[in-house]
Amino acid sequence: MTEREYARRRAAAREALTARRLDGLLVSSPANLRYLSGFTGSNALLVLLADRAVLFTDRRYTLQASGQTGCTVRTASGSLFDAASKWLRTNRINRLGYDPGQLSHASCLRMRSGAARLVPAAGVVEELRMVKSPGEIELIRRSAGIAARAFAGCLRLIRPGITEVELAAELDYRVRRLGAEGAAFDTIVASGRRTAFPHASPSAKVLASNEIVLIDMGALRAGYCSDMTRTVFLGAPAARFRRHYRAVLEAQLAAADAVKEGVSAGAVDRAARKVLQASGLGPAFVHATGHGLGLEIHEKPRLARGEKTLLRAGMVITIEPGVYLQKFGGIRIEDTVAVTRNGCEILTPTSKELLTI
Ligand code: GLY
Ligand code: MN
Repeated sequence: MTEREYARRRAAAREALTARRLDGLLVSSPANLRYLSGFTGSNALLVLLADRAVLFTDRRYTLQASGQTGCTVRTASGSLFDAASKWLRTNRINRLGYDPGQLSHASCLRMRSGAARLVPAAGVVEELRMVKSPGEIELIRRSAGIAARAFAGCLRLIRPGITEVELAAELDYRVRRLGAEGAAFDTIVASGRRTAFPHASPSAKVLASNEIVLIDMGALRAGYCSDMTRTVFLGAPAARFRRHYRAVLEAQLAAADAVKEGVSAGAVDRAARKVLQASGLGPAFVHATGHGLGLEIHEKPRLARGEKTLLRAGMVITIEPGVYLQKFGGIRIEDTVAVTRNGCEILTPTSKELLTI
């Protein structure tokens, strides 16, 4: 990202502040900080004002921050909240927005000991982050490409005898070797009946013949996440598995077909749910159809029942219907997709046809 892009984002955030009659915004979440300033370190606070943006950090990060951000960098020797609070008092800043979901009560009290009036202002930056720039979409496309290549590179390892943890480690290793900073989230590898846990952690269980294997993985590339799930079968699956796989795939395709600018997030969820309900699998679809993603793996919007948010071109979301049956196992198919004016672009290049190994 160029400094110009960060300046454009700060300008958009300032407009949102003016609409809320705020003098400034206190930004504490690492993703929001990175979005507005470019700074990638783990300890900083950003005060965004109409005419300035000041980033407070500690001595470990002074050099890094000066190189990464066009904001004014101030190094604090103690608590960043104390330093920011003092600075706000000296500069007579009054109504400062903050996100109650991001700032602890203790930090809030610390800030309040200064003169600034803290005003709850949730989600200001998250709203902006929902719609991605072409540059951001390109980074997510690359991230999705890395995850897909890592998955393809591990196909020959998906065999009876390897453990779930070993397979997850191989996937993570390849994601990094292909140029990512790491996995976008804890890689899920589940096999057999464990696939009935939608968010299984890889275990010491050994993959066996005639089992379902579910892999949910993503790459983090230049700060941007991708997310994909594929479900494969070790051996020749019974008719029931094929039927359920087909139903999940049809639900995934129907939801992707429903995506375009102006459609509500709830309508996309409905499209997936309708297919699974028609197959008698409605109750087995226990989670939302998808979520936004970008600097974080879970961002707005949520693609769930009754969600009214209207999709906009530039949003990047997942489409991931799944079914989970206790004695049978689970099947999920997930792509990362970018919303366009007339539909969507599927950013995950991996085939969704049933793969039997
Ligand atoms: N793929 C992980 C998640 O969406 O929660
Ligand atoms: Mn997901």
